Order: sequence, then C-alpha cells, then structure tokens
Amino acid sequence: MSLFRTKPIDKIIAEAQEEGKHTLKRALGAWSLIALGVGAIIGTGIFVLTGQAAAKHAGPAVVISMIIAGVVALFAALCYSEFASSVPIAGSAYTYGYATLGEFVAWIIGWDLILEYAFGAATVAVGWSGYVVSFLSDLGIQFPINLSAAPGTQFINVPPDLAEKLTGIRVDGNLLSAGEGWNQMSEPLAKGIEQVGGTVAALQTDTAVFNLPAFLIVVAITLLLVKGIKESATFNTIIVLIKTSVVVLFIVAGIGYVSMDNFSPFIPANTGNFGEFGFTGILAGAAIIFFAYIGFDAVSTAAQETIEPQKNMPRGIIGSLLICTVLYVLVSFVMAGLVPYTALNVPAPIAVAIDAARNLASGSPLGSIFAAFPMIIKIGAVLGLSSTMVVMLMGQPRVFYSMAKDGLLPEWAAKIHPKFQTPYVTTIVTGGIVSLIAAFFPIGLLGELVSIGTLFAFVVVAAGVIVMRINNPDLERGFRVPMVWIVAPLSAVCSFALMTFLPWDTWLRLLGWMAIGVIIYFAYGIKHSHLRKESAG
Ligand code: ALA
Repeated sequence: MSLFRTKPIDKIIAEAQEEGKHTLKRALGAWSLIALGVGAIIGTGIFVLTGQAAAKHAGPAVVISMIIAGVVALFAALCYSEFASSVPIAGSAYTYGYATLGEFVAWIIGWDLILEYAFGAATVAVGWSGYVVSFLSDLGIQFPINLSAAPGTQFINVPPDLAEKLTGIRVDGNLLSAGEGWNQMSEPLAKGIEQVGGTVAALQTDTAVFNLPAFLIVVAITLLLVKGIKESATFNTIIVLIKTSVVVLFIVAGIGYVSMDNFSPFIPANTGNFGEFGFTGILAGAAIIFFAYIGFDAVSTAAQETIEPQKNMPRGIIGSLLICTVLYVLVSFVMAGLVPYTALNVPAPIAVAIDAARNLASGSPLGSIFAAFPMIIKIGAVLGLSSTMVVMLMGQPRVFYSMAKDGLLPEWAAKIHPKFQTPYVTTIVTGGIVSLIAAFFPIGLLGELVSIGTLFAFVVVAAGVIVMRINNPDLERGFRVPMVWIVAPLSAVCSFALMTFLPWDTWLRLLGWMAIGVIIYFAYGIKHSHLRKESAG
C-alpha cells in the first residue's frame, strides 16, 4: 500500500551527498558536534526540573532516576548513531522513518518532531525568561511583571517583612520558597502568607498578558540562525564552555559539603499514591528528568553540514550524551546531598543547594567565594539556556527542509539562502511560531509535551533500526548498535515505559496533535509526495 512506501536508501544517500549552491554548507567536525549536543542537552532540565523530581517524586533517589533516564537516552543515542552514520541527512528521525517504515510513519514522526524541537525551544525560552527576570531583579531592575509570563499567570508582591517571616516555613509539609518582591501566586504561597499573619487580599497583585523576554530571545536567535551555521556553531561553542564550567563549579564547590544525613532515607516511603516516592516515584522522577537529556538527537539534524558524517555523527551524539550523563549524575548527587529534598521544589534548585553550601562554608575563606555563586549560576543559566534554544531552533527548520524536499510540505519551505546557505524560509517560519508559543504558554504544559513527543520519536527510531537491519543488511554503516537485537528492542520498550509515567492529559494532547498531523497529511502530503508522483508516472 502506498502509505507504507519507503524511500530507497541509495536515493537518500545520493541526496545527502549533493553539494552546491542550493544545499547546506559542510563545516562541522566532531568537536563542534559534541559542543552542539552538550549545548542542546544542558538546559532547563538540569537547572529546574531535577529539584522538582527530587522534591515531589524520588527524594534523594533522584540520583537513581537520573541514571535510569540516562540509560534510556543512551540506548536511543546508539540507535540514532547507527542511522545518522548510514543515512546522514538533515531530516533525522523523519528520514529514518521514511527509509524504513514508510511515508505515513515518516510524516507522523516529522510532525511529532515539531513537539520536540519547536515546543522544546519554546519551553526553554520560558525557562530563560524566568532566569532573566530574576537576574535583573538581583541587579535591582524590576522587569514589568505583566510582560514576563504566559497570559493569566498571577503574581503577588511580597513586602520585605513578610518575605522574612515566610523564609523557612512549611506549608503542607513542604518548605516554602518566596522572596521579597513579585512571586508567582500559588496555593501554598497564599496559605503561607495567611499562616504568618499576612492578608493575601491586602497585597498588590498583577496578571501577566505576554512573555516578552521569551518572545524576544527566540526572535534574536532566529536572526542569528538565518545568517549561518558556522557563526552559530562558534557562538554555541563559547556558551557551552561557560555553562559546562558553571555545572562543574557547582559539583566541585558543593561535593565537600554533602551530608549523608540528607540521604537518609535514600528512597522515601511511597505515600500511597502512584509516582509519589518509593519505587514508582523513582520511575516518575526519571520520566520528568528525561527532559534534561533531550538534545543529543538534535545533533543528527546537522548531518548535511558535517564533514565525514559517517565518523563524526556517532562521536557527536554519543560523546555529548556521555559527558552530560556524568555531569548530571554528579549534580543530582551533590544537590540531594546539600539540602533536604523537600527544599528543592523551587524554580532554581541549584541556587538553593549552593546557598546551603555557602552557609556551611561561612567563616572559612571559601565563604566569600560562595557568596558570588548564586549570581554566577544565574548568569550560567541565562547564557546556557540560549545555546539550548540555538540547537533546537536549528534542528526544526532542517526537519521541515527535508520534508519539503520530499514534497510533504510546500516547495518554498526547502529554499536555501543564496548567500548564507541556510534554510532561511523554514528558519524564519519556525522562529515566528516558536516565539508566539513561548509568549503565550506556561512551562509545565510545554515541558511534558516535549518529553512525550521525544520519547515517541525514540520508540519509532529504535523500531526503524531493526527494520533497516532486516531490509538492508549490507548497507555501509559508519556505526553499528552493539548487540542490536537486544539493545534496539530494549530502547523502544524503555522509551515507551517512560511515556507511561507521564500524566494522562499530556497523552491526550499528544493524540490531539497527531490527529491534526494526520488530517494535514491526507489533505496535502499524500497528493504532493514526490515519491508517489515518481512511482505514478
Ligand atoms: N535537555 C534540554 C533542557 O534540559 C532540552 O533544557
């Protein structure tokens, strides 16, 4: 049946090898790719979500969640490496699907990748906006609060005396974290204010209408990407060095102050609810933290801009993931060892943990160095999150580019800029849409959607590796998944298992999104597919 017609691999490879004015420029080597991967991976996940996973789901055993999520990511990275080294083309999972499972599955995956890259970039932009507003406020600059979050987000202005009373109090068993000035309104905060004698109704409140910083950062990065990949890669490398240094600094500075008391109990008893501590809590924590690992696969979208992709793709994909896995496990160990896990349910858990170390170090010569850490971490996060967005905003247009070249999207989407040699049309369209998503949606909704969409792509890629081994056993592969008959099925099963730990409403959103994709395919793609036209006539 034509829906399941596959695109011949030799044809894909011939396309990948085309050079010239209308193709992408080859400029990236192994190190640039590793930097690209690390740039995409270290972001909102480690800077924000690790604390939430510990506080709400896994406790100190968040270290185990981190290892589990890392292993699932590693299985997927092996599968991506085999594909990216044998079918090195910008479409990534979309093209792998086209080569192995047919046009319809390919379209579904391409459509699904929008959840990963476009929505992923928007998620990180919202996280970035939060850090920038908080950083500016540390400098004494108050950004207009109604322009700093998704429409409808409510804020409350906490005066200094009340902020002081709120410090360290517990609401429903959890430590409250509220600072002086504007705080996002929440039920525990309202309860806490009443608990310490304040009156919520007497305080100034405001409601956001637009997330301006998130919107602007996406526009700025889009302009950078239109100009060219080499420039973007250099910018990315510098920022990656800075953010990796901040993460390493956190580990080195904090590890000496880890207290074993904070690790007991290491696995807090399950509360009776699925996913709240205990064994299921560790797995729920892994599903949430998984977001932190997303990004290594985006390296594969740079395949057509890579020198010797057969060798360099696997190095970039696996290398970047391994570096981040080691850093993440250490960060979660140090974080959970510095403070009781109940204190980590805050937007900036790394800063909270380092603050604890600062208190422990006060009096020692290290004390004054620690005093600067929260600021350094915020600067690292602000810069670091930009490079995550760069890679995601670079990946998405390249997937669109491949889809347009196959006729599943309109021809104009595959246009390459004559001077910059970048897919400028799709870059601008992507940037425009992402900037609006970032301006109008909250981080929680976006983040879970990104995780489920990515895990779904990983399931299909793992299945694709198996199909390609059966159908094209002799294809030249720069990299082969070791013990493929075990590892690839395990990869699909593990990714799917993590999906089941995400909430039901996220599943419904995924299904809704896919339904829209199916309608577009039958209304447009199926009629314009080049493969179909070629075989018809
Ligand atoms: N891994 C990326 C992040 O954590 C998506 O922001």
